[in-house]
Amino acid sequence: MLVGPSGAGKSTWAAAHFRAAEVVSSDALRAVVGSGEHDLDASGDAFSLLDQVVAARLGRRLTVVVDTLGLDHARRADYLERGRSNGMPCVAVLFETPGAVCRERNSGRDRPVPSRVLGQQLAAMDSARSALASEGWDEVVTVTVEDQERDRAGAGTRVEPARRSRADGAGPEVVLQVSRFPWGQDPAGWLRSVALAAVEAGFGGIALMDHLIQIPQVDRAWEPIPEPWVTLGMLAGLGTELRLGTLVSPVTFRPAGVTAKAVATLDVLCGGRAFVGLGAGWWEREHLAFGVPFPPASRRLDLLEQSIETMRALWATGTKAYTGERVSLPETTAYPRPLGRPQVVVGGSGEVRTLRIAARQGDACNLPSDLDTVRHKAAVLAGHCEAAGRDPAEVAVTVLDVPVLGRDRDDTCRRVERLRGRTDAATYARRHHAGEAHQHARRYRELADHGVSTVFLALPDLEGPDDLERAAALLREL
Ligand code: CTP
Ligand code: MG
Repeated sequence: MLVGPSGAGKSTWAAAHFRAAEVVSSDALRAVVGSGEHDLDASGDAFSLLDQVVAARLGRRLTVVVDTLGLDHARRADYLERGRSNGMPCVAVLFETPGAVCRERNSGRDRPVPSRVLGQQLAAMDSARSALASEGWDEVVTVTVEDQERDRAGAGTRVEPARRSRADGAGPEVVLQVSRFPWGQDPAGWLRSVALAAVEAGFGGIALMDHLIQIPQVDRAWEPIPEPWVTLGMLAGLGTELRLGTLVSPVTFRPAGVTAKAVATLDVLCGGRAFVGLGAGWWEREHLAFGVPFPPASRRLDLLEQSIETMRALWATGTKAYTGERVSLPETTAYPRPLGRPQVVVGGSGEVRTLRIAARQGDACNLPSDLDTVRHKAAVLAGHCEAAGRDPAEVAVTVLDVPVLGRDRDDTCRRVERLRGRTDAATYARRHHAGEAHQHARRYRELADHGVSTVFLALPDLEGPDDLERAAALLREL
């Protein structure tokens, strides 16, 4: 809700900060239903149209900027109520442009507002200013002439402060999770260019999704989804400093000892930077199609426990017989041994068993990235650690984030439209934290403040190396 007299700079500010479709202006609607922006006879029609547009956009939980004088308390109360009833945050933007500046700008316009009218508007500002504080807005933002000058200079056009405050901590490590492979006619070239762009962008590693058929959440079933350990071997050959691994490998796919062998091999090929995400598996279809058994969930979770134990036994030094809690092996002759100690990331956030497995046997868990979930699940994990007598600091909290990341507001909206399918735009945007680099960076710092050490970032619209420029902008802001 914009509030300010004529010439205060409301429309100019709105155009600098919002998409044209997000701004609904009484002047513009006068021109739609009347003879022009200044056709005062058309005001009634213009405002009823404005009310309809506001109601329709709020009903879809879409941003709407009301560009009117905003000096009328009853109108403001009405829009505020509508926003509230649709569960939208409501912000008033108060233009503290000095009267002299408004008058000067006004006199320079084609059709100036009569001086007496402008005087009345300026007088109404005093009561609006004091009323706004008690009307119940989530926030009252003040725009000064200096703010407007900065907009004109092309800098600082962000509504939200972008820079980190002192209270914010450092950012987390960010690993690129690749879940789609639109590599056209040149798979190896595509992979190489994406990996090198990831290095350039500042990623700490690459994680590959491990599925036998492309999953519906990502793309169509006939799109390519390569075997990850083969693919990671090729990436290891690039000689970068990226950490390399899967997120996540279902334990149903390969006998644990064979995965241990793959991880150890990768680890020696990439200089001790291998990690492995492990999960219980969930998608029956790919198991059936590939002739891989798909036991019930409780059995798969047992298998997850046994797998981690087997892998650790085969990675340890010595070739003696191994007898553990769940697994016995007649010998542990497994060469090459990994160079380092490959990190085991337990995927899934089931609170009763999966997080307990992570707490007892994992080096890390992997959670969805919304802050409320992270807060809650991390507490559950810590509880399991305590029960198991393990220091919670030994189990890293990582998240998988699938953000819509736009270059600017327009670009972000276009991407949401392209990706959302049948989900409504506001829901899709919220679910995928749609925004620009600085907004995601702030979110990542907040996650780090809540104990997240690594964000696995998957771009839902990754087409090739050029897309990582957007991610680079995010990483620069961390
Ligand atoms: N203007 C300016 N410098 C700014 C902002 C605005 O010179 N930083 C000028 C605009 O070019 C315009 C006039 O001031 O000629 C009024 O700006 P506008 O954004 O149209 O003001 P509004 O508050 O929208 O005025 P109204 O209520 O009359 O629509
Ligand atoms: Mg205007």
